[in-house]
Amino acid sequence: MGTARPTSINEIGDVEARLLERHYIGDRALATAIFLALKLDKPLFIEGEAGVGKTEAAKVMAEVLDARLIRLQCYEGIDLAHAVYEWNYPRQLLHIRLLDETQDRRAAEREIFSPEFLLRRPLLDAIDNDDAVPPVLLIDEIDRSDEEFEAFLLELLSDFQVSIPELGTIKAKRPPFVVITSNRTREVHDALKRRCLYHWIDYPNLEKEVEIVRARAPEAADGLAREVAALVQGLRGMDLYKVPGVAETLDWARSLAALGATRIDSSLVDATLGAALKYQEDLERVREKVPAMVEKARGA
Ligand SMILES: Nc1ncnc2c1ncn2[C@@H]1O[C@H](COP(=O)(O)OP(=O)(O)OP(=O)(O)O)[C@@H](O)[C@H]1O
Ligand SMILES: [Mg+2]
Repeated sequence: MGTARPTSINEIGDVEARLLERHYIGDRALATAIFLALKLDKPLFIEGEAGVGKTEAAKVMAEVLDARLIRLQCYEGIDLAHAVYEWNYPRQLLHIRLLDETQDRRAAEREIFSPEFLLRRPLLDAIDNDDAVPPVLLIDEIDRSDEEFEAFLLELLSDFQVSIPELGTIKAKRPPFVVITSNRTREVHDALKRRCLYHWIDYPNLEKEVEIVRARAPEAADGLAREVAALVQGLRGMDLYKVPGVAETLDWARSLAALGATRIDSSLVDATLGAALKYQEDLERVREKVPAMVEKARGA
């Protein structure tokens, strides 16, 4: 299809630079995946642990492309009425009631199945719109939806069209840039993955995480940013119920900065542990190790 996009993304480096401008610390591999997804007009399937920046990548791409972000948050039981369209029954009923006896019933029926009575949900909106730039369609956390819904998406993503029995088939003039994310709580079907380019976002290493904190929590002093990132890196190596993601690192750095800290110490870390750990069992397990962790992080 090769849609022309009114942005000057001509090479992978352009993607890298644009992400950085918006304080998103990506790496070459992610920039390459985004670049190719744009060039080939293919959906980008991003998988990774919780809080590694999957959703944020899509949001930032909408800004980069100066496109509207259309977000479909998936959940168990999501169906076409919530994802694509639904007829506005109350409004249709009201319309029929207001007709007087003399009016032609058949004409009225045709009328109430016109676009005016349609409740447009994200997927329809992504396909049928007058946006100057094709929107970014974020299908977030697809692993939460069920397989039936996935099968429907498969169809939609191959043709970028939706069929509404009363109205006919609606096809996208220009396909949206599609980003699909998954936390991998279950495997997504191969057939769906096959239609996409795939990218796995790992937890960042220490250097990258420090960069993320500097970009997103500039109120944290340089030394603090580094120490918090090092603490979190340490926590990720522990056997915890739920290890912290990048979102937690940022919360932790912001919390400590809000307390006026420019370095960490055991009592500060102990007092703010809830920014990083959200399970009582994890808190207990970590608390006794705080002094050793702090010492190690201060040397990082
Ligand atoms: N590489 C990055 N550069 C800048 N900020 C980042 C990066 N990675 C994560 N973040 C920040 O971390 C937070 C969590 O990111 P996000 O919500 O995108 O994670 P996610 O992978 O979608 O997580 P979940 O699976 O829980 O939905 C956001 O505030 C985001 O700004
Ligand atoms: Mg997310």
